[in-house]
This record gives sequence, structure tokens and C-alpha cells, in this order.
Amino acid sequence: MASKPWRDVNAIYQIYPRSFQDSDGDGVGDLRGVIQRLDYIKGQKHSLGIDAIWFSPIFASPMADMGYDVSDYCAIDPLFGTLDDFKQLLEKAHALDMNVMLDFVPNHTSDQHPWFIESRSSKHNPKKDYYVWRDAKPDGSLPNNWLSIFGGPAWEWDDERKQYYLHTFLKEQPDLNWDNPMVRDEMKRVLRFWMDLGVDGIRADAVRWISKDPQFRDNPKNKNWHDLDAPNQFGSQIHKYSRFWKNLFPYLREMTDILAEYHNRIIIFEDYPDDNYSTKEQYLGFYNVNPSIGMPFNFEGLWTEFYADGFRRFVTEFQGMLDPELHRPVYCFSNHDQPRIASRMGGEEQARLVALMQLTLPGLPTVYYGDEIGMPNTPVAPDQIRDLSAFSSGDFAVSRDPERTPMQWQRGQHAGFSDTQPWLPIGPSLAKHNVETQSHEPDSMLSLYRRLLKLRAKHEILRRGTYEAFGEIESDIFVYSRWLDDQHVFVALNFSATVQEVTLPHLGRILCCTHPVDYPDIDEQGMVRLRPFEGVLVECQEHSLR
Ligand code: NOJ
Ligand code: MG
Repeated sequence: MASKPWRDVNAIYQIYPRSFQDSDGDGVGDLRGVIQRLDYIKGQKHSLGIDAIWFSPIFASPMADMGYDVSDYCAIDPLFGTLDDFKQLLEKAHALDMNVMLDFVPNHTSDQHPWFIESRSSKHNPKKDYYVWRDAKPDGSLPNNWLSIFGGPAWEWDDERKQYYLHTFLKEQPDLNWDNPMVRDEMKRVLRFWMDLGVDGIRADAVRWISKDPQFRDNPKNKNWHDLDAPNQFGSQIHKYSRFWKNLFPYLREMTDILAEYHNRIIIFEDYPDDNYSTKEQYLGFYNVNPSIGMPFNFEGLWTEFYADGFRRFVTEFQGMLDPELHRPVYCFSNHDQPRIASRMGGEEQARLVALMQLTLPGLPTVYYGDEIGMPNTPVAPDQIRDLSAFSSGDFAVSRDPERTPMQWQRGQHAGFSDTQPWLPIGPSLAKHNVETQSHEPDSMLSLYRRLLKLRAKHEILRRGTYEAFGEIESDIFVYSRWLDDQHVFVALNFSATVQEVTLPHLGRILCCTHPVDYPDIDEQGMVRLRPFEGVLVECQEHSLR
């Protein structure tokens, strides 16, 4: 079954596989569970109506970092099912005209991966250079000052091999040595394995770490760091030598070259801004690898505070860097590493505005499961914490569990997610935040997402139209328009808690509003009174959309 051309895909739905649907009663989500729920995502009259899904890692893993510690890149972890389950899922998704993406973790493996077990066994074995090994300094101290994102030094002593190995994340996640061509060949084989199976795309994890200074120089101090008592001192350095080194883009190019052997495949690179480079240099660096196949996430919406100017500025600057014909933006406002939108932005009304904004901006947006029903962060008590990074960094507050809790399908015990106690708790607001209840409410968050996704699927202008912001800086309203040939739509978003009047540049008709049952009026002068946190998508009257 052919996959959907990526240019027609309205958005990507991120599934955190442990938390979507449990089918075998072990309290952890699995692939058969996803299969059962596919028609929630697409295919039925009341589906969400989204054209692609991506899974956080489903590969064999000891789960120290919940699957981002892979012990076999070409096997499905038994917790999630079998390769046959995955093939079935892929087939069913394709039959629904839905694309499937996997999460590829190139920077590190699990310390239980056979490559690492062999590599650590001695200084003389065929895989001795698969990882980043270094001797202790003559006085026995660490090879350099590099730090792990998850707390403490990035080096761990290995008593078997009598050397240190590098781990940018947990000590259970040793960094692969990408400067070794054998490692790159292994990783290419992995990519081909999944591409041959018909997977449509890849989300590539933590890629900026795959190229490091070959001299392993000490990172300089971050002079702006004053939080000397913080349990995790990762921010005390500028990570100049430990990431984003000269071979990063050539190595990514080797990945896109593999995907280029196939038809209609894409790769989305995970990248957070790096102090050493201008934002533009970074974004374009990633796009220039191979713009028709590879693109970086834009994560700025993950930390921009909820005010009009913040969003106007970053979106407008970013759009200004891009060639609309060549570069596809991937706006991500939420994922499994960050607090949920409804909690971060201040509440449900604000989350609705963010949804309307994200799904009317250009490109290929990603929607994190559960955000479409407005799930807030779920409180997770210290003794229920499962995210090991909360322990290694010494700060429970950084636990990512609250945004990883089970999908809430219906009221009642275990929320329809499982028939047993789930691996993380169900949120206390289940009565409101569940799919079943919201499916019947025309004004629910779910109804808003469905409406927006339907429009985005139907109207190419929302996916591919040009972007232009206008209106005054420092106003509480963020207004932009989109053009495609003779079609024209505009979007006005009120970021304030008060009523705001905005005059639209053209007369038009509202196609969607943050409350899909109750649209504001537009008067003859094109003036709309936007209620607190209200947003509207308006089509220009002279060029109404078909
Ligand atoms: C980024 C992933 O999103 C995160 O969940 C993970 O812990 C790190 N990369 C390490 O793989
Ligand atoms: Mg299960």
C-alpha cells in the first residue's frame, strides 16, 4: 500500500507507546493497543483526522530511558509486541492513508546492546572503537570536564576495559563513536531495515551530539551560570566541544542519502538551539543537508511564554529564514520531554489558542497525544516516579512522567487505557479530560482539534501557503495571513484576558474559532471583537476556499 505524499500530510501525531493503549493487561501500552485505536486517529467519521503518526522508541530496550536506550535497533521490545504486530500496524495505517514514523536513536545505545558488551570486554576486539573510550588522565581523573545532560560527569569508569566511556545522557546510554565508519555503516543498515519494511519517516533523536571535537578539549565555563547549588550543573558549561562539531551535517547527509534511495521518506532532526551558533545558521544547516528529505524541529514553542509578541517574534523570524518552496517548518509545541501545553500555557483557553495557532501555521506540525483533549500534567508522587533522569539529576521536579501518563479514553477505572493498574497514574481531571466525553461535546478541545485538522487536510493553503505577520508589535493580538495562488486566509489570536478589537485587512468568513460552536461576528468594516484568549481563522471573501 503506497504511503501518503508528505506534502499532503496535515500533521503528525506523536504516540508515546507506553501510554496509548494497553491490550495485554500489563499496565503498559503496546502495539496491539495502538492497532485497536487506529480509527480514533483516522478513518472514522469522528476520528481525530490526522495523517501521520510517530512513535517514541519501540525497539528492544532495558528501558532505563524508556526506550531511548536501545539494545537492538531491528527488534520490537516484547513489552510492545512483535515485529509482526508492527507490520500489521503499518499495513493498517497505510490502508487508512496514514504515514508511520519511527524514532531513531543514533547518538547512543543501551549499555546492554551487544555492541557495547563486546566493546567494553577489552581494548582489542572488533568493536573496540564503536563507542567513545578514553584513558583516565595520568592522575586517574576524568578524561575531560564534559557533563551529562542528566547530571554529573559525562564519563563513567568501566572496570572491565579499564577506561572511561562517554555518556551524554544516562550512564546506561553510552555514546556511539560516529567517527568510526563501521558504526555509520551499522546505522545505515538499521535505517534500510525500517525503510525496506515500508516505514515512511524517521524522527532522529539528539543528533547534534553525534559529532564531537576529536581532541576532546575541555568545555569552557558558562559565565552566565550562577546557580552553583543546582543539583544538575549541566548548564554551567558552554558545550562547545562536546557537540555540533564539524562532521554533524556530513553525517546527517549520510542518513538522508539512505532515505533518498526510497520514495516519499522524510527525517525530522531533534535539535535545540546551541549557544555557539546563530539560530539561522543552525536551522539552515539542518535544512541544507537535504531540504526535500530532512528538516529540524522548531522547538521554540516549547518555552516561549504565553504572550503575543513572543510567538509573533519567533514565528516571524523563523519564517523569514526559510525559502517557502524548499523548507518545511515543523512546529512542535509539546512532546514527551516537556510539560503539557495546558499546564505550561496557563489553562485550557490558552491551550485552545495555541492549537489554533499551531494548526494554521505552515508546514508539518506535531501534536502530542493527549493534548487534543487538553490533558494537563498529571501529578506523579515521588514514589511513583519512573523517569530515571529525575534521580540522576538529583531533582524530582525535572521528572518527565507528568506528561507521559496514560491516554484518557473514558471515565471509570484506568480510563479505558488498561484493565489493570497502569504504569503511571491517571490524571485527577479524568471526568473532563477523556475522549468519550469530549467526542459528544461540539465545543470540546477534541472538537476544536478535529475541526482544525479537517481544514488543514482539506486546504493546501494551510499547509503550504506563504506566511506574513502584520499588526503592531507589542499588541496583545498576533495576526498573520497566508496566501496560496489567489487564495487568502488570515488568523487573529488574542493573547490577552480582555476583549480586543481587531480590524481584518479584508472582509471574510470565519472558518474556525477557538470555540467551534460560537463564532464572533465580523462587522461591515471587517472588525471582530475577540473575547479573552479567542482566536479566529478567516477566509478572505473575494477568494473563498473551495
Ligand atoms: C531526547 C528524547 O526526546 C529524550 O526523551 C531522551 O531522554 C533523550 N533524547 C536521550 O535519548
Ligand atoms: Mg501492554
